[in-house]
This record gives sequence, C-alpha cells and structure tokens, in this order.
Amino acid sequence: MAYLAGPELVAAVSNAGALGTLGAGYLPPDWVEELISRTRALTDRPFAVNIMPHSPHIEAVLEVVIEEKAPVVALGGGDPTQCLPVLKAGQVKVMPVVSSVAAARRMEQLGADAVVVEGMESGGHIGDVTTMALVPQVVDAVRIPVIAAGGIADGRGLVAALALGAQAVQVGTRFVCTRECAAHPRFKERMLEAGGCATRVIGRSTGRPVRCLDTELIRQILEMEKGGQTVDHYFGAGKLHTAAVEGNVEDGFVMAGQAVGLVREMMTAEEVVQQMMNEAEMTINALTRRLAS
Ligand SMILES: Cc1cc2nc3c(=O)[nH]c(=O)nc-3n(C[C@H](O)[C@H](O)[C@H](O)COP(=O)(O)O)c2cc1C
Repeated sequence: MAYLAGPELVAAVSNAGALGTLGAGYLPPDWVEELISRTRALTDRPFAVNIMPHSPHIEAVLEVVIEEKAPVVALGGGDPTQCLPVLKAGQVKVMPVVSSVAAARRMEQLGADAVVVEGMESGGHIGDVTTMALVPQVVDAVRIPVIAAGGIADGRGLVAALALGAQAVQVGTRFVCTRECAAHPRFKERMLEAGGCATRVIGRSTGRPVRCLDTELIRQILEMEKGGQTVDHYFGAGKLHTAAVEGNVEDGFVMAGQAVGLVREMMTAEEVVQQMMNEAEMTINALTRRLAS
C-alpha cells in the first residue's frame, strides 16, 4: 500500500511470521533503496516490495530491487509484461497482481513465481470479478501458487480463501488500522468509523476503477460520472497522498475495501496476524466438528 506500508509496518508483519510488503508505489529509486534498508534494519525476515510497472521511475527502481536483492517483488497496477523478465533475470521472486484468469495465465507463462489474485472487494484499484468467483477459476487455470486478495480481514476470510484453493492471502484494508501503519490518524479514524458497506467505486468511466470510503467527494465524482462528465483530472493527482499522508480526508481518496466493516479496533500488526491465525484455527476446528457430526 503506497505511502501506508512503510518499514515499521512491513517489519512488524514479517516479524509476526507473515510477509510484509513495502508500498513503493511511484517513489523514485533512492527513496525505494532507503525504504528497503530501513526495513532490513528492523527485521531479518523476508519481505516483499510492491512496485508499479507504469511508474515513471520503473527502470531505475527495477535496478534498485535487483541490486538490493529484494526477497520478493509484487507488481501492482499496470502491465507487468516488461518488468517480469528483468526481475527474473535478476534472480528476484515475482508475484504480479492480477484480476482475471487470462492475466494469471499470461503471468505464469512469463515466469511469475506466484500470482496475487485480487477480487473487486479490495481497496484501491480493482477489477470486475469478486474474490469468491475469481480465485477458484485461477486456481484451476495455473500451476503456480495463488495468493487471494480482496475482502479478507479475519481468520474466517483466510479459511475461505484456502478452501477456494489459494495458498495464502494478501490483506490490505485490515492493516491500515494498525499502530505501525504510516497512515495519518484521520485516515485511520475514518476507517474505524466506517461500519459495513461503506465503500463506493469511482473511476469506471476512466477505465481504472478505485474503491474508496463513501465520502462527499466520492459522491460528487459518482454524480459527475453518471452525468457523463469527465473526471480524469481527479485521478493520478495524488488523491491517496492527500488523504493518507496529509490527513485531508475530505479532498483525498480514503481507499478502502469492502471488508472495512470488519475493522473495528486499532491493533498492532502482530495482533492482527495472531488473531487471524487463531480465528482460522478455530474456524477449521469448528468446520471439522460440523462435518463429522
Ligand atoms: C489504501 C490502500 C492502498 C493500496 N495501495 C496499493 C498499491 O500501492 N499497490 C498495489 O498493488 N495494491 C495496493 N492496494 C491493494 C492491496 O495491496 C491489497 O491487494 C488489497 O487491499 C486487498 O484487499 P483488502 O483491501 O480487501 O484487504 C492498496 C489498498 C489500499 C486499501
């Protein structure tokens, strides 16, 4: 998560036994290098670096992650076709984010080590298909490990994703409301106050839909799109930065997934990971008892 998943959160997640992912977004190469070394100072465990194939700095950022021997690189928004072979040649494990079966197949052919299959319940930029429907279709279509993302915020979601054939899950929204997350306190407060079904999708008219909390600005943009007005100028202008870094949740986009209704309290990242694992174990045990009865 660009701007939000910094060294403190990533190290805390990795130290808790999961794989933290640095949100490198569109940052310049020297900044990415600094984030990696700050993370390394906080954890000896592996972590991933999420980079954007259509970043203006992509070539230099690829050099940095290869030189720094980033354990895993997650390729977010944009076409990863050019980046993937470069990273593989640099001995980096690569997991592109996909939102369709066709894209997952293509990434496997290009040598991806795993795919993050992101359903439209997710926060941020989204595809068209739900996690529930998409994950098993991708599981049937590829041989590489599938990591399910979108709508997973507790142990029940984790078990559901495993039942669909995923090997692991990627969680975004739940980690925003952690003590180590770099988001502005107002951004976190908005999420905690959100309650169920509090997200809307804007930007369908631009071809790059984004799921955000339902705020006055988001309602205005939706009205403009309904009226056929162009809303392109709202996108790519750092609206996540405005909300998440500056704390201006009125003028920025509070990107959040549909599972925001399950985010009810501030925790440490370690508590989130522990709670998910404990809940998953309890869920599996309860299901086993139910099947046996
Ligand atoms: C605030 C926010 C920022 C995000 N930024 C990125 C990003 O920079 N790159 C990326 O690949 N995905 C990004 N995502 C998507 C997450 O990596 C993850 O796949 C998604 O949040 C999973 O769904 P969930 O929100 O239901 O947990 C972002 C999500 C949120 C909520």
